Amino acid sequence: MVFSRFFKPSARPPLDPAAETQDTASDEHADDAPEALPDHSWAERARAILPSGSSTGSKRAEALWGTADAHGPTHYLRASGCRVVTTDEEELIDCTMALGAVALGYADERITPSVVAAAAHGNVAGLSHTLEVEVAELFCEAVPCAEKVQFLKSGAEAMAAAVRLARTYTGRTTVIGCGYFGWLDWCSAEAGVPGTVRDDYVKIPFDDIGALEAAVDRYGATLAAIVLEPVIERMPSVAWIARARALATQSGAALVFDEMKSGFRLATGGYQELSGVTPDLAAFGKALANGYPLAAVGGNAAILDAARKTWISSTLASEATALAAARAVLHLHADTPVCDELARIGGDMRTAVSNALTASRTGGIEIAGIDPMWFLRFESPALETRFLTTAAANGVLFKRGPYNFASLAHDDETIAEIESCTSNTLFTMRTADGA
Ligand SMILES: Cc1ncc(COP(=O)(O)O)c(C=O)c1O
Repeated sequence: MVFSRFFKPSARPPLDPAAETQDTASDEHADDAPEALPDHSWAERARAILPSGSSTGSKRAEALWGTADAHGPTHYLRASGCRVVTTDEEELIDCTMALGAVALGYADERITPSVVAAAAHGNVAGLSHTLEVEVAELFCEAVPCAEKVQFLKSGAEAMAAAVRLARTYTGRTTVIGCGYFGWLDWCSAEAGVPGTVRDDYVKIPFDDIGALEAAVDRYGATLAAIVLEPVIERMPSVAWIARARALATQSGAALVFDEMKSGFRLATGGYQELSGVTPDLAAFGKALANGYPLAAVGGNAAILDAARKTWISSTLASEATALAAARAVLHLHADTPVCDELARIGGDMRTAVSNALTASRTGGIEIAGIDPMWFLRFESPALETRFLTTAAANGVLFKRGPYNFASLAHDDETIAEIESCTSNTLFTMRTADGA
């Protein structure tokens, strides 16, 4: 493989706890690894003290497995490359890659030393760290729409900042949107969100030009932004995205792309780089810092400068460890075609699972999505829970619903293992059915 020298999975820290103990034995503060109790006790303890059992919605037991009482692991002790060790000391190949937050690999040695150094030199202080400026410059070189950028901690915050900027810049209120933008009030119809806030956000369907035109027609004069997650389960038609661009310009609204999953994955600069359609603003997060908490809203300088007329700020938005991770990620993308490799690996992962499904002649399970972010679709929730829990028992953690994410750590050997574990899973299920 031409780029194998770049993409050879970096030497990963050991998942073997004994090896870890040796490394850290001299550090009296290093022994804060969780006790290895049987997994169900962690799940029970979590359910008793965390309202949903996990602060990340997609990691709740019912989100992982389909039902809260399914026999699947919920907690991990260590992660490295694309493997996690559960609280039962079972090692799983992780195809979920922390909801797409990690594209290189867990505890990646191209990233971790920069993070450790940043922590050792003072993660925060009374002044801004130079890393904030460096990463801002690198980010604006990498992202087509970005003339300026502001950092935040989560994707939801970055999208809320984008909307605040669009509203401040245009002096208008209504937002038309399609996609998931996080949990914050501006785009939510959940309990606790005031009706007046809900009224200002109008949902439109994916890839539907007629619905987009009708919504812009209806709200044109008050329209602050058209906000799109450009890739939802599949690529959009270019016509839809191009129409959104044209309508935003005509109506004086900002076009905002949510590149949380597409950024640093489909292309370094996200869907906008692939399509050539440049939004006015775009939000990034997840793979930007390979799992460290950093998000960014970048775009047209005049719209970003509207930040000076409103208030967008967070105490830890510019802490150094996540910025150090992002700098290392941005350098890697500048030097190597990371996204081409993610597409190849994702394609190989899909093929591996597809081969296993075909060979076993199992019905009711389909593979959908696009290569770097693909997913399994099941004919029934019961089949889904059964397949996912059996796969975990056979050594692979698949995502329930969108998406399984390719990472550079899924090397050829691991992909072959995914195929054999999937075959074993299907065989186990058939045998249990007496087939
Ligand atoms: C497209 C998109 N936007 C926004 C978010 C919210 O990001 P976060 O969970 O970091 O707040 C997500 C999270 O999954 C996402 O997928």
